[in-house]
Amino acid sequence: MKKILVVYYSQTGQLTEIVKSVLAPMEKSQDVSLVFEELKPKKPFPFPWTSRQFCDVFPESFQEIPCELEPFSFNTDDDFDLIILAYTVWYMSPSIPVTSFLKSLEAKKVISNKPVVTIIGCRNMWLLAQEKVKTRIFDIGGKIAGNIVLMDKALNLIGIVTIAYWMFTGKKDRYLKIFPHPGVSNKDIREAGRFGHIILRGLSKEKIDIDQTVLNEHGAIHVLPSYIIFEKRIQKVFKIWSNFILQKGDPGDPNRRFRVRLFFYYLLVAIFLIAPLATLVSFIARIVSRKKIKEAVEYFSQNSLKH
Ligand SMILES: Cc1cc2nc3c(=O)[nH]c(=O)nc-3n(C[C@H](O)[C@H](O)[C@H](O)COP(=O)(O)O)c2cc1C
Repeated sequence: MKKILVVYYSQTGQLTEIVKSVLAPMEKSQDVSLVFEELKPKKPFPFPWTSRQFCDVFPESFQEIPCELEPFSFNTDDDFDLIILAYTVWYMSPSIPVTSFLKSLEAKKVISNKPVVTIIGCRNMWLLAQEKVKTRIFDIGGKIAGNIVLMDKALNLIGIVTIAYWMFTGKKDRYLKIFPHPGVSNKDIREAGRFGHIILRGLSKEKIDIDQTVLNEHGAIHVLPSYIIFEKRIQKVFKIWSNFILQKGDPGDPNRRFRVRLFFYYLLVAIFLIAPLATLVSFIARIVSRKKIKEAVEYFSQNSLKH
């Protein structure tokens, strides 16, 4: 019997649905026992968000500054065979509750020397978040054994409009009845059980061996080349903005409100003016540095960590 710890944090329940769908084959298996740990921040994050709250979590998300979590319910002395870490992406980083888990002593204890499968439910920018998660897991002695990414497949600008509508109103229907449904499609969530079957097969071996290549053949990771360039560029700007806001105080501090507002305006400009231009630049860069981009796609499609 293989014992698996499943750690997750979902605000709207979308990631919870993804996790349930992926794990359905394992729930039915007699050879697996699952222990679920839903992360609960001591001060819950709001949903729906106001624009101020949404932007106020930016510096801590991006710089991986943890928040306080409610005590975990899993037994840290348990010897798990596999850890499944399901997370959403906030500002190209793991969400703050997941960062907080990864920085806890309990995570260090259960993840050390253990394989970890990551499940990501996001809009479309997850590459650098996964690098942060990979680094943290590596630092505490674990190893990523598999990665599954489910994202919104709408065009970037359409996805931005629909997610903004969802996050700021709490409604997951079709904005103005013209736009598509926000988030990961129901079809993609429903069909995610195929990944669970592959994980299950990897568990039946003497030493847990989950094949990322097989997962990828079933669509677990799909790296969009333009996002490699995109995320790397945004990362540099986010570093400056996050330091600029943090100089003025901690989360919710009225002293940093003005800078948080400026960041909101920057996001609007970046999304509607800079992003289309950046798409063009990325397109040209992809043609010019084809070999480099190909190598980067290969790198982000596997689980080892570049030093
Ligand atoms: C504050 C915030 C920042 C986000 N930033 C990103 C991002 O950088 N990249 C991305 O693909 N999705 C981003 N998302 C979308 C989330 O990854 C996720 O898909 C969405 O919040 C639904 O997740 P849930 O299961 O927790 O409800 C962001 C969401 C929030 C709330």
